[in-house]
Amino acid sequence: MKVLLIGNGGREHALSYKIKQSKLLTELKVFPGNGGFEKNEILPPNSINLKNKKSVQKFVLDNHFEFVVVGPEEPLVDGIVDWLDEIRIPCFGPSLYAAQLEGSKEFAKDFMKEFNIPTAKYEAFSDIDLAKDHIRNHSFPLVIKADGLAAGKGVTIAHNTNIALTALDDIFIKNKFNLSTKKVVVEEFLEGEEASIFALCDGNNFLMFPAAQDHKRAYDGDQGPNTGGMGAYCPAPIATDAVYQQVSEYVFKPVLEGMKKRGYLYKGLLYAGLMIQNNQVKILEFNCRFGDPETQAILLLLEDDLLSLMLDCSNGKLNKEKLMIKNGYSSVVVLSAKGYPGTYTKNIPLKLSIPTNQETLIFHAGTYKAESNELLSNGGRILGISSYADTLKESIDKSYNYLSSLNIQEAFYRKDIGKRAL
Ligand code: AMP
Ligand code: GLY
Repeated sequence: MKVLLIGNGGREHALSYKIKQSKLLTELKVFPGNGGFEKNEILPPNSINLKNKKSVQKFVLDNHFEFVVVGPEEPLVDGIVDWLDEIRIPCFGPSLYAAQLEGSKEFAKDFMKEFNIPTAKYEAFSDIDLAKDHIRNHSFPLVIKADGLAAGKGVTIAHNTNIALTALDDIFIKNKFNLSTKKVVVEEFLEGEEASIFALCDGNNFLMFPAAQDHKRAYDGDQGPNTGGMGAYCPAPIATDAVYQQVSEYVFKPVLEGMKKRGYLYKGLLYAGLMIQNNQVKILEFNCRFGDPETQAILLLLEDDLLSLMLDCSNGKLNKEKLMIKNGYSSVVVLSAKGYPGTYTKNIPLKLSIPTNQETLIFHAGTYKAESNELLSNGGRILGISSYADTLKESIDKSYNYLSSLNIQEAFYRKDIGKRAL
């Protein structure tokens, strides 16, 4: 099977690592890719305009791709799965309609309300004055969410009126997140510990991965600004059997059934972002794709053929009872460019040794190979160092051992990944 993988992050490098183990694969190409891929695996720049239906359809047909795996949310929310469906090319990911679970906070909240999926109480506003009135009459903290894809930056936890009003001005007046529709969801602040559970879905059935815990803040001790994620580990012990059971029964099951009631199917990966308190789960957010960097840890535990599972999702034939998951733990520590998530250094030379430990893998994110073949950075998150071991501590130690052997002055990483669970 000739497969096209779309994306350029650590997530896609990790997906490719698993997809390449599949017996079904004959050829894998990636677009736009990163420095972790072989040069001949990466399609030339400008091969595809991912914003343009005709460009995507023509490229896929002309080049005889048989299956497309979409990593990031943006093409999914734009409708790439529907575009490929029109030309009968199977694809891993949800349709335009189903991807709104990530693409619109209001859609997701209304959906959860309709199908009794546990989540924070909320109101949605498309009028700034009504939103301001609501805030002035409310106690704090409150959470303000821009409605649309904002690369994880659209959420403000407001502890007082001023912060809340500034967040509304940023969305409605300054259009800080460059969104086409100006809307907000204002919701109740939830206490607890966060984790995420991913499920592969075929429209009717789903299979859950073990829970992972991301580290969203830039610096140790959960200090500093929010990032895309600085590290993760899996399984997260905060997810007890009671948690998995609730997520299965009161989250994934009603999502799939709710979609069917509305005349659609949820296929692909559904990411449930959870807040857990006293073993009780509430949904913070849904994402319509694998998480980054959680995927770089989670996939080290998967024994099944990922490509085959992805095909089953797309064909509606996900008939296994459960995923084959290795015992033990996996983790990923992200090496970032100094300054990230603000303005960061680029073109940092990366001299990487091969990990001495076979259970440590380097997943590339913001890297590229220059003409000279030199490896350089071009993103805020540069590498994810992922390790598998029998215990969480060994897994994390392996990644840190490798990182301490590197000497990259212009980069940094958190030193406390997984600490909560140790
Ligand atoms: P979201 O994109 O909706 O997941 O929000 C990003 C982050 O904001 C989450 O990972 C949480 O850390 C935080 N957050 C979002 N909603 C809430 C809430 N209702 N209560 C507390 N924290 C929240
Ligand atoms: N790591 C958070 C996300 O992928 O959304």
